[in-house]
Amino acid sequence: MTARNDAGQSGHEPPVEGNSRPVTSSQTGPHDSLRERVARHAQGRFDKPIADYNREAFELVNRRVIEAGLPLILDSGCGTGDSSRELARRYPDHLVVGVDRSADRLSRQRSETPTNCILVRADLLDFWRLARQAGWRLSRHYLLYPNPEPKARHLKRRFHAHPVFPDFVALGGHIESRSNWRIYLEEMAIALAFHGREAQLRPLEPQGGPLTLFERKYHASGQRLWQLETVDTAGPSPDNAVD
Ligand SMILES: C[S@@+](CC[C@H](N)C(=O)[O-])C[C@H]1O[C@@H](n2cnc3c(N)ncnc32)[C@H](O)[C@@H]1O
Repeated sequence: MTARNDAGQSGHEPPVEGNSRPVTSSQTGPHDSLRERVARHAQGRFDKPIADYNREAFELVNRRVIEAGLPLILDSGCGTGDSSRELARRYPDHLVVGVDRSADRLSRQRSETPTNCILVRADLLDFWRLARQAGWRLSRHYLLYPNPEPKARHLKRRFHAHPVFPDFVALGGHIESRSNWRIYLEEMAIALAFHGREAQLRPLEPQGGPLTLFERKYHASGQRLWQLETVDTAGPSPDNAVD
């Protein structure tokens, strides 16, 4: 079934399936082991060897970052890169780097990529560590609809419960994550708080239209969506602004 396209999309975009199912999980709240896991990962470094292809990808991007000399926005797990392109349009004086490990998703480009946007195929578990080692300090960091991994036994696959999380936090910036599973974001708020970053969770009101493909799909399926944003000195987020 194809959903009625009432999500603020323009007529030339492909229809979006409105049959995404909400996340189901045996968890009724944040995982019991979350705090212990976050605390443990804060003690040590994630030292799995970095893959050559990620190092090469990072070096290419880092060269462009240095050349550009602009404030940086990282769109982690950008999928098709729709959000990265849109963010580049919303922040023309920033450089937006969209990273995803799926070459297939990245190849599904549906609009022109602005010159202040770079899309790169890499694994975030390596990319975040390389960025930290290179001294990146982000202006904004987006983690939009990360895979929820809702099975309780898969807690460690969620980014906030993974050993790489301290590297994610060390990149700094105004952090925003969105999800159709509220518990994921509740957990992320707990993990961020452990690292001294307060964050607010609220229902998403995407006044400017969906920012990502998954957001469009969930919206078309009538799902409730959630938004977590760090509370910091960056001021109110213009990300939902109507263009
Ligand atoms: C549910 S999709 C969301 C994509 C996009 N943000 C959106 O909202 O349309 C999750 C994305 O995260 C990417 N991803 C998951 N784990 C990753 C990792 N370790 N490194 C890079 N990308 C990853 C997947 O390839 C996928 O494109």
